[in-house]
Amino acid sequence: MTMIRLASLADVPALATLEAQSFPYDALSERSFRRFIKLGEAEVWVLDNQGSLLGYAIMLYRQATKLARMYSFAIEQSQRRQGHGSRLLTHMERLAQREHSLFMRLEVKADDNEALSFFHQRGYQDIGLKNDYFDDHSAACVLQKQLHFFDSERLPRQVPYLTQTTPFTCGPASLLMAMKYFGYPLHNPELEELELWREATTIYMTSGHGGCGPHGLARAAHKRGMAVELWISQPGPVLLDSVRNNSKREVMIKIQQADIEALERARVPVHVSDYYMTQLEQDLEQGKLVITLISTYQFDQFKAPHWVLITAIDDDFVYINDPDEDDTPWQSPAARQYLPIPREIFSRAFGYGSKRLRAAVVLGQGMLPD
Ligand SMILES: CC(C)(COP(=O)(O)OP(=O)(O)OC[C@H]1O[C@@H](n2cnc3c(N)ncnc32)[C@H](O)[C@@H]1OP(=O)(O)O)[C@@H](O)C(=O)NCCC(=O)NCCS
Repeated sequence: MTMIRLASLADVPALATLEAQSFPYDALSERSFRRFIKLGEAEVWVLDNQGSLLGYAIMLYRQATKLARMYSFAIEQSQRRQGHGSRLLTHMERLAQREHSLFMRLEVKADDNEALSFFHQRGYQDIGLKNDYFDDHSAACVLQKQLHFFDSERLPRQVPYLTQTTPFTCGPASLLMAMKYFGYPLHNPELEELELWREATTIYMTSGHGGCGPHGLARAAHKRGMAVELWISQPGPVLLDSVRNNSKREVMIKIQQADIEALERARVPVHVSDYYMTQLEQDLEQGKLVITLISTYQFDQFKAPHWVLITAIDDDFVYINDPDEDDTPWQSPAARQYLPIPREIFSRAFGYGSKRLRAAVVLGQGMLPD
């Protein structure tokens, strides 16, 4: 009878032997195994057959991200191709899912066709190549699998997906998805994306073309007939922190002031308040969609402002349509539609800048054109 259990220090000699057999080019020492087990730096799991070790997996969880990293994984040579690897892998994936990890990632020697074919057949995708990765200077393929998906059998993914066509139009692309969902005709989406950007840009935020501001996006949505409400944690013109040049700041202030006054004239509700998860749940429950500004730091360690469209929520995840394909080139558009973000990670990512501006443009169907 085989069982999968956490390793103990007594397993270390057998683990090191198995490791040396499987990875002669870059093997972990007994000392490393002891450290992993003793200090809890990693989870070491073993596949045990009545006291003899058939295989093992070393897992690292990054607290701050949604990534589970499989640091090492092997089945004893004489025991391969009997389904042991599949069983151990499935178990590790389930554990990572329970930790709310969105992805499982690992490195495999680039010329190890056996292991590559094993992982490819189990849904892992190549997302990169690391040259000179192992001790013998050989390269590694970086493999990744998405572990969570929106349960589209329970609820169809109704909000359509669009990829932004420029690096600075995440806000407009998010708005276009909402417009499409609420039945607003899009005759030329690419042009409309640029039109929306022209109306909603802060002009100077970020280097290069400026991203969109919350007031501008709300104004552009209202202009097209949508029902709009804006939640914003700070009053007045925002997103000015990173703009050091005074004349640029003045332009940004002027343009946002014009948006704020236009929203006032149009009686678009602007709540100067934080936007809480309970409010988000309530808005989604009422059939609305929400565009929010997030910092991508939680996902890629770069502090970039990024607008995404929130499409659903459940006890564990906030689901977003992420218009950006740059950060996640290995993901298909289908995977970026209703992308699950663990709630605690979303809470950390929601907000931007040193003042943690939190902005949410809540959208519903308003007046449709004739
Ligand atoms: C990759 C590995 C874990 C697979 O373990 P396993 O117990 O043989 O896996 P399973 O029996 O569950 O599945 C075997 C499947 O892997 C693939 N595979 C394994 N060996 C293969 C080979 N020589 N050629 C082609 N495909 C192969 C096939 O899909 C095979 O399925 P099949 O037998 O139905 O054709 C094992 O080969 C191993 O330990 N390799 C060395 C360590 C390693 O490279 N680890 C990955 C990096 S951390």
